[in-house]
Amino acid sequence: MPSKQTQPYESIYVVGGSKGGVGKSMLVIALIDTALHHGKKIILIESDTSNPDVWKAHKDEIQTHLVDLDVANGWIDLVNLCDQNRDAVIIINTAARNNKGVSSYGGTLNSTIEELNRKLVTFWVINRQRDSLELLKDYMEAIPNSSVNVVRNSYFGDEGKFELYNSSNLREAVEAAGGKSITFPDLADRVSDDLYSRRMSISTAMKELPIGNRAELTRWRNESRAILGGFIDG
Ligand SMILES: Nc1ncnc2c1ncn2[C@@H]1O[C@H](COP(=O)(O)OP(=O)(O)OP(=O)(O)O)[C@@H](O)[C@H]1O
Ligand SMILES: [Mg+2]
Repeated sequence: MPSKQTQPYESIYVVGGSKGGVGKSMLVIALIDTALHHGKKIILIESDTSNPDVWKAHKDEIQTHLVDLDVANGWIDLVNLCDQNRDAVIIINTAARNNKGVSSYGGTLNSTIEELNRKLVTFWVINRQRDSLELLKDYMEAIPNSSVNVVRNSYFGDEGKFELYNSSNLREAVEAAGGKSITFPDLADRVSDDLYSRRMSISTAMKELPIGNRAELTRWRNESRAILGGFIDG
């Protein structure tokens, strides 16, 4: 029987995609909600320092840090935070065009993940275009120690519309490595607009929105939890 210390500490989740507007922040919002639902302590690392939307919505509710992952120092801070907070799930919201930072310094996290004794799990959010896939190849080369799951954001259309990805060699490679291809539900625009314009977490929105908006939010929240819950350690 392995002793308790050899069990991995809580996982680190990177929400990437590199492209702007593919739904990275939306997925982070849903992932935070899901991890809280599973009773996890969470630290949000917001690396979108110019538009820290997820940070603003959660800074009064969970522990958050603004960390610039375009520079070497940010990656050092990230790894140290992971080491100092082993009891917390780490959720990293990445900024658009962070591929340069990942290629230059992602090795800092990649090379320490074993010593940190944590699992590194990436959700790669895609729209229906090719560059989402090209960028994923670069990411997987820069951080090979992460497991990678691809997220078809149904805001851009139903699962079948992601034919470029669905029929790609990349999908085969992702799934052969044990990664999953998942579909992230679409939330009605007026409710996602509520979250964004008023910088609200899901739990705050569940207190403040009108009943009809809350019903739609509940539908989306439950669907998101069903999909993302499988990635949260028991
Ligand atoms: N699943 C979804 N349901 C409803 N709306 C969505 C969904 N995904 C994205 N959107 C819409 O698209 C917009 C952009 O999404 P989001 O901010 O999550 O993208 P991002 O990848 O974080 O962008 P950036 O790179 O600028 O940070 C949101 O404001 C929201 O209106
Ligand atoms: Mg974002």
